[in-house]
Order: sequence, then structure tokens, then C-alpha cells
Amino acid sequence: MNRKRMPFICGNWKMNKGQDETYNFIHDFLKKVKQVPHLKEREIGIAPVFTSLFIADSLLKHSEIKLCSQNVHWEDSGQFTGEIAAPMLKEFGVKYVIIGHSERRKFFGEKNDTVNMRLKASLKNNLPAILCVGETKEERESGRTKEVVKQQLLEGLKDVTKDDILNNLVIAYEPVWAIGTGLNATVEQAVEVHTFIRGLLSECFGNGAGDVVRILYGGSVKPDNIDGFMASEEIDGALVGGASLDIESFFRLVDFR
Ligand code: PGA
Repeated sequence: MNRKRMPFICGNWKMNKGQDETYNFIHDFLKKVKQVPHLKEREIGIAPVFTSLFIADSLLKHSEIKLCSQNVHWEDSGQFTGEIAAPMLKEFGVKYVIIGHSERRKFFGEKNDTVNMRLKASLKNNLPAILCVGETKEERESGRTKEVVKQQLLEGLKDVTKDDILNNLVIAYEPVWAIGTGLNATVEQAVEVHTFIRGLLSECFGNGAGDVVRILYGGSVKPDNIDGFMASEEIDGALVGGASLDIESFFRLVDFR
């Protein structure tokens, strides 16, 4: 397929893999990726835990694969126990930051306004962001999917410049009910929301925004369903948890057909 936008497959390792496992995975994964020239036309990202960033960067900096972070704070330094700032992430070679993941929202009180603060801090520091949005099971069942996604996007992107939206933003649509449950959205369900997001971006940030911004799908993406998702031009890639933890499985995802 002749794609308009560069595909992006990003592994979100969540709270998994310490230094040794990170090193071994990336070392072996890079060897496999090098053997497949067409993978150069795809962007690949890996988001390990903070304590594995250094070791991951020591290998990834010699490759095209992008080191990603799972979060970022909105200040550059200060009294924020347990947090990490964008300039610190940049020192480790981080290229993208995942912001507003549903696990942050569900377990750590992340709200649209703090998502917005983190996003602006990341962009101010020239760190592109992957903004996660998505509805819960209850919200979908009560017909509120678009309303919820719209609010997450409008509040999350408040005061973000058009320039940043066009150049430094990736959106991940991740229905909460599909994350880590083995129950993926159908391609049609994902496409419906992706199309809605594109319309909203064009409406709010001018013609073209909806055409340019990459939108990933996330939620139980696996080797046996990746090709179906990537067969749609509306889906620019995937944000993957569980299936990114195993080398063979993650390799099959980045090698989608
Ligand atoms: P999953 O997680 O692939 O394990 O469903 C996706 C995510 O949380 O980004």
C-alpha cells in the first residue's frame, strides 16, 4: 500500500524488563531488524522503564529505532518526588514521550489538564509526544465514545500550536476495554474513531491537520491481528503493550504485511 504517512509501531513495555532483559532484547531485536531492508520505511519505537533508558539508548543510538519514554513531568526540575523532566529524558536520547496512557489516568489520577501540561512541557523541550485517548467499556456502551475522545483531545491539546500538532504529535486511540484484555477493537471500530479524530483535528487546527497527524491504534494488538489493522489507510500504526515484550512477536508486528 502506498501510505500517506510513515507507519509507526511502538512497544510500550510498561513496568516490565530491567536492565539485563532490556539489553538482551534490544541487542537481539536489532540483529533481526537489520536483516529486513523494508523495515527502514517504518518507524519503530520502544518505551522501556526509566531505569532501563540508559542501557536501551546505548544500543538504540546506533540504530533507526526510537527510544521512547512512558511519561514526563510538566516542570523542568523541582519538588516532584517520583517524576522525571523532559530535559532529563533528552539526556538519555529519548525521541518520543507517551502521554496520558489510560493506566496513568486509571491508577495515578491523570486528568486531561495534567495531560495537557505534560504535553506542552514535552513539546517545549522539542520532544515529540504520543497522546493517548480512548473510552472505557461503560462509555462505549452508553454511546459516549466520540464525546469522551473529543473532550480528551480538546483539553489535552489546549494551547498547543498548530506547528507542533503538524510536526511533533502522534495520537494513539486506545479503547480502555481493549488494553491488556485480549479483546481488541475491530478494524471498523478503530477506523470509525480514527476518522472522527481526523475530522476534529482539521476542524480545530485547520485543513490538513487531520491528513498529516499520525493516529495509532492500541489495545490487544498481536501478530494475528496487526495485518488487518495495517491494511486500513486510516490506521498509521500501533501502540503495543503485551505483544511487544517478546522478540518474535514484536518483530512480527513491525514486519506487518
Ligand atoms: P496491550 O496494551 O497491547 O497489552 O493491550 C496496549 C497499551 O497499553 O498501549
